[in-house]
Amino acid sequence: MSFPITRHRRLRRTAGLRNLVRETQLTAHDFIYPLFVTHGSGVKDEIPSMPGVYHFSLDLLQAEVEAVVAAGVQAVLIFGVPDRKDASGSSAFDEEGIVQQAIRAVKAWAPQLVVVADTCLCQFTDHGHCGLIHHDAHSGAAEVDNDPSLQLLVRTAVSQAQAGADVIAPSNMMDGFVAAIRDGLDEAGYDMIPIMSYSVKYASAFYGPFRDAAHSTPQFGDRKTYQMDPANSREALREAESDVVEGADMLMVKPALAYLDVLRMLKEHFDLPVVAYNVSAEYSMVKAAASNGWIDERAVVLETLTGMKRAGADLIITYHALDAARWLRGE
Ligand code: PBG
Repeated sequence: MSFPITRHRRLRRTAGLRNLVRETQLTAHDFIYPLFVTHGSGVKDEIPSMPGVYHFSLDLLQAEVEAVVAAGVQAVLIFGVPDRKDASGSSAFDEEGIVQQAIRAVKAWAPQLVVVADTCLCQFTDHGHCGLIHHDAHSGAAEVDNDPSLQLLVRTAVSQAQAGADVIAPSNMMDGFVAAIRDGLDEAGYDMIPIMSYSVKYASAFYGPFRDAAHSTPQFGDRKTYQMDPANSREALREAESDVVEGADMLMVKPALAYLDVLRMLKEHFDLPVVAYNVSAEYSMVKAAASNGWIDERAVVLETLTGMKRAGADLIITYHALDAARWLRGE
């Protein structure tokens, strides 16, 4: 009888040994927690397709921010749900817009919390697209007009920085948006505010619950002329390369789970921090299965987030952040 010389199981024998050789350690510092803020008062409405995620009015947001800090999560990503939409999304760059108000409030309650602002127009436009709509003179076909949209995105980013945002996260996928926003921020005196670029954002079916949450479903067409084709990965390198050249400080891949190969490619090709966005449907599928008793939510979430980090994510934007941070503390 011959015996194996190599026994991989030696290092798996006890919990202590497994802890010693673990390659990837998830911590609460890896997480960015998204918050949806809206007008009015007394609002804490659960988003039906995202159990455990809420719309908050500013008066009820403070308790949530305190919970974030108590859980040891040090960054939030703010999304606004405005009460007014128009063709140019002007409530996105209004000094008194909901996002600007929320940034000021969060920074007043928790100055040490890193506040990341999502910079896009789709929640604020009546047509639900991420830029201005232009109708072709001949065919009448509607298209999202790249360059004029950049001006509005720059105004949005500057107003968010003015309100106190620590990081600007443009998610609109117009060409040249990082360069335009970098330039605009620098000119306005915000040269130390970093840009976390949604570099590689796919035209994904995994954003469905978010669009319910943010009321940002396009009213006609889809986002395939500006977001990326899920079939492409070399194109992801071209997108990311542009952002690096244009001055991005962090590169994001979104969604995460179906695109971990792309995340890994970015990690290998660039030296900037890479961010994974664990998007809304990835969250909702876990919640639905867990509520049916089909999976162990805690184990599945921690395994998923560990997988993202192992694949190369330096940071993870996730709706599970509060739960995961508490679980990691043994609560
Ligand atoms: C706005 C934006 C979207 C998401 C983040 N920022 C939606 C979209 O592009 O349609 C999706 C986030 C999620 O699904 O969790 N452009």
